Amino acid sequence: MTPLSRREFLGAAATLGAGALRTVRPGGFLVGPRSPVREYRLTARPTDWDTGGGSTAPAWTYNGTVPGPELRVREGETLRVVLHNELPEPTTIHWHGVPVPFPMDGVPDLTQPAVAPGGRFTYEFVPRVSGTYWYHTHVGYQLDRGLYGVLIVEPGSEALSYDQEYTLVFDDWLRDPDHPRPNPNASGMMGMEGMMGGMGGMMSHEKPPASDQSHHQPSRVEPLYDGLIVNGRGDRTASELRVRRGDRVRLRLVNAGSAFPLRIQVGGHEMELTHADGQLIVPRKTRAVALGMGERWDVLIEARHPGLWPLTATAPGGERVTMLIRYEGVRSTRPEPAPREAEGEETVSYDELSGATPAAVPVPDRVYYLVLSGGMMDPTRWTINGRMHPNTDPIPVRLMERVRLRLTNMSMMPHPMHLHGHFFQLLSFNGRRLSSPIRKDTIMLGHMEGGTLDVVADNPGARWLFHCHNLYHHLAGMATELRYTGGRST
Ligand code: C2O
Ligand code: CU
Repeated sequence: MTPLSRREFLGAAATLGAGALRTVRPGGFLVGPRSPVREYRLTARPTDWDTGGGSTAPAWTYNGTVPGPELRVREGETLRVVLHNELPEPTTIHWHGVPVPFPMDGVPDLTQPAVAPGGRFTYEFVPRVSGTYWYHTHVGYQLDRGLYGVLIVEPGSEALSYDQEYTLVFDDWLRDPDHPRPNPNASGMMGMEGMMGGMGGMMSHEKPPASDQSHHQPSRVEPLYDGLIVNGRGDRTASELRVRRGDRVRLRLVNAGSAFPLRIQVGGHEMELTHADGQLIVPRKTRAVALGMGERWDVLIEARHPGLWPLTATAPGGERVTMLIRYEGVRSTRPEPAPREAEGEETVSYDELSGATPAAVPVPDRVYYLVLSGGMMDPTRWTINGRMHPNTDPIPVRLMERVRLRLTNMSMMPHPMHLHGHFFQLLSFNGRRLSSPIRKDTIMLGHMEGGTLDVVADNPGARWLFHCHNLYHHLAGMATELRYTGGRST
C-alpha cells in the first residue's frame, strides 16, 4: 500500500479546507471564491428493495433506492458528496469515468482507507469534462448489492438539441447476495468446470492473492443472477418512458451490472449514438447497441412512430428486461412486438465510430502489450500477462507521457477493461483503425478481440487501477495499475 504523497495529501486538504469559507444558498448550492459547489449527501445503508414483483430482497443502497439518486453538476462546478456509512462493512465511492484527483478515486487502501461502519468521508472535486458517468462502491462484492447511481456532468453549453431525456441504468440482480449460487458457465467453457475445476488449485503456480481491493475475501465464481433490472425494476414492472410525437428523446444508457454485457434495442425506432462513455462522437445510427459493464452510451431517438414500443436489454444467456416507450395519447396496453426482426442485426463495432474532434495521434513514448486470459482451469483465476493482481506488472508512466496499450483477449469471456483517472483514445479495434479516435474509459473485448489505446498521463497519482469491470474477474486477478514514476517527459 502506497500512502498518499505529501503533495497529494496537502492538495486534498487545501481543497477541502476551502469549502469552509463558503456560504450556503438554497438548492444545495454554495458559493465560494473558486467555483459554485453542488453538495449531496449519500447514506449507504441496508434497504429491503422490491424490484416490482411484490417481494423484497436485502439490498444495500444509497439513500434507500436502487439505483441511488442521480447526481448532477455543471462542468467546472465543485461536486461535494458527503458519504455516511451505515452498512455493517467498510465502503467507498468510485466516480467511474471522471478524472478525479487521486485521493478522491475511492479505491480502498490504494487511494483512501475504506470508510468504517458509522464513519463518513467527503468526496470533493471539480469535474472538468461533461458527460454521463456513474458512481459505485469499490469494496469487495458490494456492487452486486445495489450500491450504484448515475452522475451527470452537464456541459457549459449543450451541443445536442433534444426535447426530453431519460436515464436508464441496467443491472444484473441478485436476490440473495449472501448466498450466491455459482454460475456453472462462469469461465465460458460450457461443462468443463466439473472436470477441470478441481485441478485449478493444483495447476496454478500462483495462489489467489489476498488482493487489497477484495478486503481479503476469497475470490468468488460469478453467480447465477435472478434476472435483469432497469432503474431498479424488473421485466414488466419498469416505469414507462413517456414521449410526444416529434420529440427528440435523449437516453443515457448505463450498464451498472457486475457480469452481464447487454444488447439494447428499441422497437420501431433507430437509435442515434451521440456519446461513447459520455464523450461526443460523430453521430451514428444503429438498430442495436452492445453495452459492456461500466460502459455508457448516449443515444437520440426521433419519436415519429406513435405507439407503445418495447425497449429491451438482453444478456448473453437470453435474460431480458423490457421497458415501454409510450407516446402521448396512446392508451394501448399491448406493446408492439419486441424487435425480433432486428435480432440478427449486428451491434455497432467500435471501429465504425469516430470521435467528434479529430485528434492528432503522436508517436507514443512507450508501448505495452497486455494479454487477458484465465478462467480455463479455474473460474476464480483471471490474469493479465499470466499474472493476477496485485502481482501483475504495473504500467509505469511519467507525467505527460503518451503510453500505448495493445490489448488482446485470449480467454473465452468478454472483458470490459476500465481505466481509472484518465480517458484513453481508442485508436483501433480488431486491427481496424478508427477514422478518428474515440475517447472512452471502458472498452469491451470479446473472445480473441483486441484493441489499441493511447493514454496521456495527465493526472498524477501513485496507483491508478486498470481492471476488468466484470466484478468477479476483477477480484480474481484481472487488474493492473498505471503508476506514475518520477520525472516529466519532455
Ligand atoms: Cu467502475 Cu474500478 O470501477
Ligand atoms: Cu473480465
